[in-house]
Amino acid sequence: MIKACAGAVMLLAAALGAAQPALKSYDTAAKVFRLDGGGVSYVFGVNARGELEQMYWGGRLGATDSFPQARPMPEWASFDASYTNTPQEFAGWGAGLYNEPALKVTFADGNRDLVLHYLGHAETAHGFDVELKDIGRKIYVTLHYTMDPESGILARSATIENRELQAVTVEQAAAAAWTLPAGHYTLNYLTGRWAGEWTLNQEAVHPGARVMESRRGSTGHQANPWFALQAGEANEEQGEVWFGALGWSGSWRITVEQDQLDAVRVTGGFNPFDFGFVLHPGERLETPVFYGGYAANGLGGASRLLHRFELGHILPRTGAKDAHTPKVRPVIYNSWEATEFNVSEAGQMALAEKAAALGIDRFVMDDGWFGQRKDDHAGLGDWYVNTQKFPNGLKPLIDKVHALGMDFGLWVEPEMVNPDSDLYRKHPDWVLHFPGRPRTEQRNQMVLNLARPDVRAYVLGFLDKILTENQIAFLKWDYNRNWSEPGWSQLAPVEQKRVYVEYTKNLYAILAELRKRHPKVEIESCSGGGGRVDLGILKYVDEVWPSDNTDPFDRLTQQDGFTYAYTPQIMMAWVTDSPHGLNKRTNSLSYGMLSSMQGSLGIGANITAWTPEETALAKRLIAAYHQVQATIVQGDLYRLISPRNGSEFSATETVKADKSQAVVFAFEHSTQEGRGFPLLKLKGLDAAAEYALSSIEGKARAGTPAVASGAWWMNHGLEMDEGFRGDFQAAAFRLDRK
Ligand code: GLA
Repeated sequence: MIKACAGAVMLLAAALGAAQPALKSYDTAAKVFRLDGGGVSYVFGVNARGELEQMYWGGRLGATDSFPQARPMPEWASFDASYTNTPQEFAGWGAGLYNEPALKVTFADGNRDLVLHYLGHAETAHGFDVELKDIGRKIYVTLHYTMDPESGILARSATIENRELQAVTVEQAAAAAWTLPAGHYTLNYLTGRWAGEWTLNQEAVHPGARVMESRRGSTGHQANPWFALQAGEANEEQGEVWFGALGWSGSWRITVEQDQLDAVRVTGGFNPFDFGFVLHPGERLETPVFYGGYAANGLGGASRLLHRFELGHILPRTGAKDAHTPKVRPVIYNSWEATEFNVSEAGQMALAEKAAALGIDRFVMDDGWFGQRKDDHAGLGDWYVNTQKFPNGLKPLIDKVHALGMDFGLWVEPEMVNPDSDLYRKHPDWVLHFPGRPRTEQRNQMVLNLARPDVRAYVLGFLDKILTENQIAFLKWDYNRNWSEPGWSQLAPVEQKRVYVEYTKNLYAILAELRKRHPKVEIESCSGGGGRVDLGILKYVDEVWPSDNTDPFDRLTQQDGFTYAYTPQIMMAWVTDSPHGLNKRTNSLSYGMLSSMQGSLGIGANITAWTPEETALAKRLIAAYHQVQATIVQGDLYRLISPRNGSEFSATETVKADKSQAVVFAFEHSTQEGRGFPLLKLKGLDAAAEYALSSIEGKARAGTPAVASGAWWMNHGLEMDEGFRGDFQAAAFRLDRK
């Protein structure tokens, strides 16, 4: 009886989001550390040589299970020393290490050998801080381990400290290295390009190293700092998956390596390319955080854990009612695709009136409102209101938006400057450049060196002023090019590579300070679409813009890929005009609406040109979306049928955490050979509960019960109407527990 009560209290606590501490233990005799959270155990220990060695990472072990002291792997012939074979938690480059090192340094006297041994540790709230030191020199490394008690996701990072009397150069610094059990794996990773982000790649892990990286100064469209490794036959809903994501918005690298003895390791952190951080005596370097998790139920299970973790532990809580979950995103209207740079007070007011009539919550004015911004050749850097377009400042428009019952958001691109701007004319030295060398422009702009204290003060200053002088609820923070010529001419040549660390740290510091001064303001991370999405920036922004590609068919695949790593809560999705500019494809408004409703909905079309029928349809679907939004963006996501690989069909289902509601989306791309839509066997419902089915858009097959058990929907499945055929058809349903 007492036991049952305790269980009930635990369940209630979990439902309310109250954090139980992670279980942690240190076996002093065997020198073994163990962390348990969710369904996961992570075990590492100090081996006889004093190295910190990984011992186990996988499904949760029994509470009384124990490990003997870690044993180094033996030498494999004379070519592979024990040091390189042993799965170290954080290996220094030295002593014959041929795998990816976690840390590589050059000392002032030319010594480049670094061998880290255990020194001591301290318990922290949810884990350990473990201190390592080089066997001779005074290089100290503290490894931080924090286990999330609910998901079992482990946050790992390192602090590197130089207590030598002379500076050392850190040439390579990872946040963590992860070792998987020996086995055969499939690597999943996300790549892309502008307007084509979030392609999920799946390939077998082979001997050698597979590198995912950005050398661009920011996260990048081309690869995203996330990975998942499926064991053997694991698939979307079954089998073991190890996954991880790096919290860093600067140049990064993740190396997945299968070594000569078939061991698989993943090492990630600062990108060592062009790296060289001079660490002065007494100085410390903090690495980014590398998060890692394990799921026993496939890639779907892995992404559901990550989504919950992001919602519960990463994202800000701006305006949230409960401390655990961010509030759902307001449904926005954004003017970019309707007006591009051609914004004006009258034009924006007309759009705002129409937006309000649709039931939109937030009106966002995009690029074009400031400086001499007629197109992308001028104005970036001059953050004053353009008085030709807004003779009375922004106030009349903001007042109008408020009077219409919406809040107001504004586009900014704080880190950039056009050469044709007052700012650049005044401060040409503020951009990243090497003196005497060309300054490459991309989209006619250059990157301000945010690592400089004066630039940091300027950017914080103008943003603070805009937010203080205007009633602004939201900033769309854009970043429309990558670095080139990354010089920092203020510093001595040998120090200049600090830019790779200091720039990103200052970006985070500005965001943190703005949030502190303006705690109600929400921020979106945009970088010409999805060029800056990672668990580092997500601590400071409430949402992201996944892609400049708003074609609703393309978006299905992008959204599918996106959700392997990131929660739909942050996945902004606008409905824009058809035919779409990029692909010239024509689709119905209802198809576009349902595609966008899989994420956080927005409208970006020229709504002043909509017919009464289109307006009525959008209004009805926005109202329907508002009712089920929390389930869609914060529930447990099941990717029932993937749109990848030219699939004729796709479908998703999201189930609210308490299983009281589910929402199903079905998309028919183009019927072939008369095939009907596959039966949708739902997942994650309460088998014993009764659920009522109702349509948001489209029809279920005639005879589908209005109410049936969770078991019925999961085992028998939901059948689509026979007429659900043709090109670009979409349907959506909700199931509510009775
Ligand atoms: C980037 C963004 C777009 C839009 C334009 C404005 O491309 O991704 O959404 O804001 O800039 O110039």
